Amino acid sequence: MRTGVCYFPEHWPSEEWERDIAAMADAGLEYVRMAEFSWGVLEPERGEFDFGWLDEAIELVGDHGMEAVLCTPTATPPKWLVDERPSIRQEEPDGTVRQHGSRRHYCFNSTAYREETARIVERVTERYADSPHVAGWQTDNEFGCHRTVRCYCDDCAEAFRTWLADRYGDIDRLNEAWGNAFWSQQYGSFEEVDPPGPTPAEHHPSRLLAYARFASDSVVEYNRLQADLIREADPNWFVTHNFMGRFPTLNAYDVSADLDRVAWDSYPTGFVQDRYDGEASPDQLRAGDPDQVGMDHDLYRSALDRPFWVMEQQPGDVNWPPHCPQPGEGAMRLWAHHAAAHGADAVLYFRWRRCLEGQEQYHAGLRKADGSPDRGYADAARASEEFAALDSADHVDAPVAVVFDYDSLWALDAQPHAPEFDYWALQEAFYGAVRGRGVQVDVVPPSADLSGYAAVVAPALHLVTEDLADRLTDYVAGGGEVLFGPRTGVKDAENKLRPTSQPGPLTDLVGAAVDQHESLPRRLETAVRRADGPTDDGSDADDGAAPSASFRTWAEWLDPDAAEVRYTYEVDGPADGRPAVVANAVGDGRVTYCGVWPDPDLADALASALLGRAGIRYADRLPDGVRVGYRGGHTWVTNFTGDRLRLPGIDPDSLAVDDADRDAVDAAGDGGEDSRADTAVVGSYGVVVIEGDRVDGLRVAQP
Ligand code: GLA
Ligand code: GLA
Repeated sequence: MRTGVCYFPEHWPSEEWERDIAAMADAGLEYVRMAEFSWGVLEPERGEFDFGWLDEAIELVGDHGMEAVLCTPTATPPKWLVDERPSIRQEEPDGTVRQHGSRRHYCFNSTAYREETARIVERVTERYADSPHVAGWQTDNEFGCHRTVRCYCDDCAEAFRTWLADRYGDIDRLNEAWGNAFWSQQYGSFEEVDPPGPTPAEHHPSRLLAYARFASDSVVEYNRLQADLIREADPNWFVTHNFMGRFPTLNAYDVSADLDRVAWDSYPTGFVQDRYDGEASPDQLRAGDPDQVGMDHDLYRSALDRPFWVMEQQPGDVNWPPHCPQPGEGAMRLWAHHAAAHGADAVLYFRWRRCLEGQEQYHAGLRKADGSPDRGYADAARASEEFAALDSADHVDAPVAVVFDYDSLWALDAQPHAPEFDYWALQEAFYGAVRGRGVQVDVVPPSADLSGYAAVVAPALHLVTEDLADRLTDYVAGGGEVLFGPRTGVKDAENKLRPTSQPGPLTDLVGAAVDQHESLPRRLETAVRRADGPTDDGSDADDGAAPSASFRTWAEWLDPDAAEVRYTYEVDGPADGRPAVVANAVGDGRVTYCGVWPDPDLADALASALLGRAGIRYADRLPDGVRVGYRGGHTWVTNFTGDRLRLPGIDPDSLAVDDADRDAVDAAGDGGEDSRADTAVVGSYGVVVIEGDRVDGLRVAQP
């Protein structure tokens, strides 16, 4: 596990580079990422290249025993290029052209931009081929940031028609597949189909799904163009891309197929404000939500397994969320360890120095604008030192797969049926329950081979083909344990309902059908009661879970056939007494179908029952904001709260990475229990690493 940082030498006088780069090495950083957004500096006029500055910076990085990670500069085409070839610019659905003056203003389908991309990528990769100091490349930067996956320009219209013709062959098949008799939406030819522009009422959901798939595929192609050129220049380089957090419009599994490693950019205190379901708590404003960040770690890690990197780690306060509170003391170290617990092999901070100019002046770096250490620097240095002491950590061996499906996300996004129905948030409700028991999770696409997992959780697997239903049935029959969430098996691959009952091709497996569904605002009653009678599912009927639990947003009234009822509605409304959660034994395995969006207590009861049946060892239910992860011989306890925690039964002298200053704790005399020899302490926004796999029965005590 290593650390690194992003550096923009072109923003600073060259006399300062040596000092900056030496200070990076002093902090134990090993990678320096450079050159993204530098097209205008590398090629100030067409055909006039200036590589001198980058040559020198790379040499300095090498001289200090570090490696450079270079980025293709395509996220920011320079003004002369935009003026020469204005068609490269993106268009909004209403035809508004996205102008020069920011970033990501180019279209992925622009034929002109693909030519220019090939030209600049060839040129820069050729320059550094065989350089001993360049480890690999990042393609572009954050594909899709600032709502740029979907563009509506003429190039996109053209490419969309070709994409449709390839997928459907003839137009009648498209009309049939989408169901275009509705509101007279039949097309006579592919030429007639436009990108979905402004309309009086909502768009056809099948057309929206097609456009979402097409737009994502366009980025896949564009990335492949770059990846191929990079490999041609030097086959020893790795090729990666930095994906974004909780990012809905790009299928990261598809892009990753052309990468050697997957990386992403983690900004915990920003994400709980600008892409969060609910209002961030004071602790979350200081450190973020470990499950929100963790699910992205697991999604991107699972896309290729390893190596897996965090390409940008928040270094301190940032500039883009609504509010920018200072992270809690130590949070920049906590985040690095949290990433490591989720499998990261490298964590690079963004950026080195707070910059003096441009849009991101209000964004911290590890160093202040004058080059002196800022809050994140000591944290980063400590994380580097601790990583080095942990030596090699193996990959994450997760017993549970959570199925995450971009197609289902896009389909639900087109018809959420409740303002707050957000696929990602529902996914996090189930994911958080498993993580709340300290169990590691892979976040996988529906096409993944599930046979290696002891249990599978599939919240809102909305689009289900016969083939997927068969694979899930085989998995269960062979002894697998599955937990489905609501709105599963509702649609076919084209986002159309089936004439049969839901969950469609999964009905036999689930042993129950959905009779009715309803979406519910919070002011309607949303409670379920645990069914009476013995449970035969191997779970402990008296596992402490309350007999009543609440849910939110979505309710399905289930008609069990072979399945047994686990929870029924307990509401003042037409659902009262009807089944809400059922379980069905099939072959050697079992399926639980949860027809509601569970609140945390219900999600925990379902998740712990699933883990118990699958024979997966788990921790006591962890407090909110505290998470545990096991990886290659070590157990991380990460604390995203401002409270100091105690770990009864864990000898503080046995920790591989310690946290609280024990003397200070003892001297403070405020925790008789803290001084005990068998109780380790985790400070606020802190982390400890315990030797060995200590997840089973681990207990975390709050003050
Ligand atoms: C993103 C981008 C960076 C920078 C940071 C700011 O992750 O990739 O270029 O804009 O955000 O937080
Ligand atoms: C957006 C992105 C962030 C970051 C900022 C920077 O909000 O979501 O990751 O790139 O822009 O401006």
